[in-house]
Amino acid sequence: MKTLNMMRRAAAVAGAMLACLALPLAASAQTYPSKAITLVVPFAAGGPTDVVARTLGAVMTKSLNQTVVIENKVGAGGTIAAATVARAAPDGYTFLIHHNGMATAPALYRKLPYNPLADFEYVSQVIDVPMTVIGRKDLPARDFKELLAYLKTSGDKVNLAHAGLGAVSHLCGMLFRQAVGVDLTTVPYQGTGPAMNALLAGQVDLLCDQTTSTTAHIKAGSVKLFGVTTPSRLKTLPDTPTLAEQGLKGFEVVVWHGIYAPKGTPKEAVDKFGAALRAALKDPAVAVRLAELGAVIPTDDKLTPLGLQSWLQQETQRYGPVIKAAGQFAD
Ligand code: MLT
Repeated sequence: MKTLNMMRRAAAVAGAMLACLALPLAASAQTYPSKAITLVVPFAAGGPTDVVARTLGAVMTKSLNQTVVIENKVGAGGTIAAATVARAAPDGYTFLIHHNGMATAPALYRKLPYNPLADFEYVSQVIDVPMTVIGRKDLPARDFKELLAYLKTSGDKVNLAHAGLGAVSHLCGMLFRQAVGVDLTTVPYQGTGPAMNALLAGQVDLLCDQTTSTTAHIKAGSVKLFGVTTPSRLKTLPDTPTLAEQGLKGFEVVVWHGIYAPKGTPKEAVDKFGAALRAALKDPAVAVRLAELGAVIPTDDKLTPLGLQSWLQQETQRYGPVIKAAGQFAD
């Protein structure tokens, strides 16, 4: 009997100890996030990816009750940031926002130090954004027709700014250069934020950039707009013809964004960060602001891990052969 009681007491003590050990685990799972979360932006501050990250990050900071810190990790057309996040600790405190570059980089870079289709957890798509072909204010062309004539006579004296191999401004610029058949000189920057500053200062002639960055400058008249890259005209710039309408048949570039985490990030962190992102996109002030800048919030099925993963797979298959066949995408 005495032995039985001792055994019961020992079992009770062991149970209590186990419960104590389990407590911090349960508590930490319940309290994610317990510290600031880093959202890595692959391009310079002030550009379209940065603006979207900061707009959403500010709202998500409130709902997650922890600061979403924006870290601009620039260089190599966004691939340095993606490689950094692929190698980061999969603890739920590092995420990446990136665009079409996740699908184009495998075809553009011979030695990409990460695999976009294998090295990440997928959180959600974010927004879709049209692009615009714009020029410095004093460029001697008032519209696309005059721009074409100017390009034919000035040729490679005309500079086209972009954000590096793998950037959408580069992709759009190279497609434009190919479509107009003029060998424009390209000038790389670490994001279209600095590229836009160079255009505003008259240091470069042309830039293909997202409406989230260009709309305000177009409306203020500080840059010239020559066309939009969508199949139909934009509600925000209804008087501006598409490039396809103006003779560049089939010219279409729409930028899509996604949020990624290092492979192995706990599902709870992916789910919570994704839920905060979806809530931020539905915040009325954010939705109005994004719409004013020409951005479109994807349908709910795309705002999911699977929605991003399957889209990335499709886009990788779509861009790969186009880029490889074009060859001249590498400057
Ligand atoms: C940026 O945020 O600077 C742009 O998205 C870069 C790019 O053109 O891809």
